[in-house]
Amino acid sequence: MDECLLGLIMLSTLLAGTSGVDETHVFISSGEDVRLPCNKALCECKLTTWNYNRFSHLAAVELIGLGLKKDTENLERLSLGSDCSLNIRNVTKEECGVYTCRLFLNDKQLGTDVRVYLHVLYVSSSSSSSQTISAGLSVTLSCQLYSNAGVTCDDLVRSEGIELFWVNQAGVKLTRSDSRYQISSSSDHCISNLTTTLLNEDHNREWKCNITQRNQVKTSATYTLKSSAGTEVSRTVVRVILIIVEFAVFAAPTVILLQIICSRRAGRKDSQHSEEIMINTIYGKNLLYK
Ligand SMILES: *[C@@H]1O[C@H](CO)[C@@H](O)[C@H](O)[C@H]1NC(C)=O
Ligand SMILES: *[C@@H]1O[C@H](CO)[C@@H](O)[C@H](O)[C@H]1NC(C)=O
Ligand SMILES: *[C@@H]1O[C@H](CO)[C@@H](O)[C@H](O)[C@H]1NC(C)=O
Repeated sequence: MDECLLGLIMLSTLLAGTSGVDETHVFISSGEDVRLPCNKALCECKLTTWNYNRFSHLAAVELIGLGLKKDTENLERLSLGSDCSLNIRNVTKEECGVYTCRLFLNDKQLGTDVRVYLHVLYVSSSSSSSQTISAGLSVTLSCQLYSNAGVTCDDLVRSEGIELFWVNQAGVKLTRSDSRYQISSSSDHCISNLTTTLLNEDHNREWKCNITQRNQVKTSATYTLKSSAGTEVSRTVVRVILIIVEFAVFAAPTVILLQIICSRRAGRKDSQHSEEIMINTIYGKNLLYK
C-alpha cells in the first residue's frame, strides 16, 4: 500500500461522518465535449468511481470503477481528468441524466457523493437533413433541453433560473414581436419552436438557441439549414426565358406590323400619320400584356 492510501485511511475516519450530497448542473449542447467535475483528486483517482443514471427508476451503470473505465459501449469517448472529473467527448442527448462521483477506500465510501446533472441542448428541424430547403418554404426548428433522472424542466426553471431562447446572427434574443418568426414554447419552458419562412439570405444560415442560467449564457446549440441556392438561380433563368417568349409572341409581330405600315406610309409620304399609328400600336401591345 502506498503512502497516499495510508494517509487516506487515517483521513477516512474524519470524512466518514460527513453526509449529504454536493449537486451541480451542467448544460452542454449535443456534439460538444463535456467535463463533469468531481473535485476529489485523491491518490491519482484510484479511489474514484463514476456512476450514471439515465432514469431514476433504473439501476445505475458504473462507468468508472476505482479509476478504471468500465463501460464498454462508449469506452473511447470517456476519460478521467487529472482532477478525477469525467470527460465525455461528442456528447449525445441520450447521455443526459445524473452522474455520481464517489470515493471508495477498502469498500467503504469516503466523504459525500458529488452528483452532476447533465442537461443536453439539441436542435432539430421539421425538414429532414437530406432534404434541400429553398426560399419560400416554411420550416420549424425545435430547440429542446434534454434532462433526465426525474429532473423536470419546471424544477430547473424554478431552482436554477434557466431560460431557453432563440438568438439572431448578432446574438440578440429573438422576440415574439418580430413578425418574421413565430416562437412557441412548451408549458414547461424546455422546448422552444421557431417557425419561419425562409428567405434567400438564409442560405446556409446558422440558427442558434441559447440557454441561460440566472442570466448567464451556459451553452448554445446551432442548426444549419442546407438550402439550395440553385433553386433561386433557376427561378431567375425561368423569368428571363418568359420575358424572351413574351417578347417573341407580342413584340415581334408588332415590329413587323410597324415595318409594313411604315413602308406603306413612307410611300405615301405622310410621316405625321405614321407616328400616330406607331403610338397606337405600342399602346395596343401594352394592352395585350394586361
Ligand atoms: C459525434 O457523434 C455523432 C453521432 O452521435 C456522429 O455522427 C459524429 O460524427 C460524431 N463527431 C465526432 C467529431 O466524432
Ligand atoms: C447567445 O450565445 C452566444 C454564444 O454562443 C453569445 O455570443 C450571445 O451573446 C448569446 N446571446 C444572448 C442574448 O444570450
Ligand atoms: C414543436 O415542434 C415539434 C415538431 O415540429 C412539435 O412536435 C411540437 O409539438 C412543437 N411544440 C411546441 C410547443 O410548439
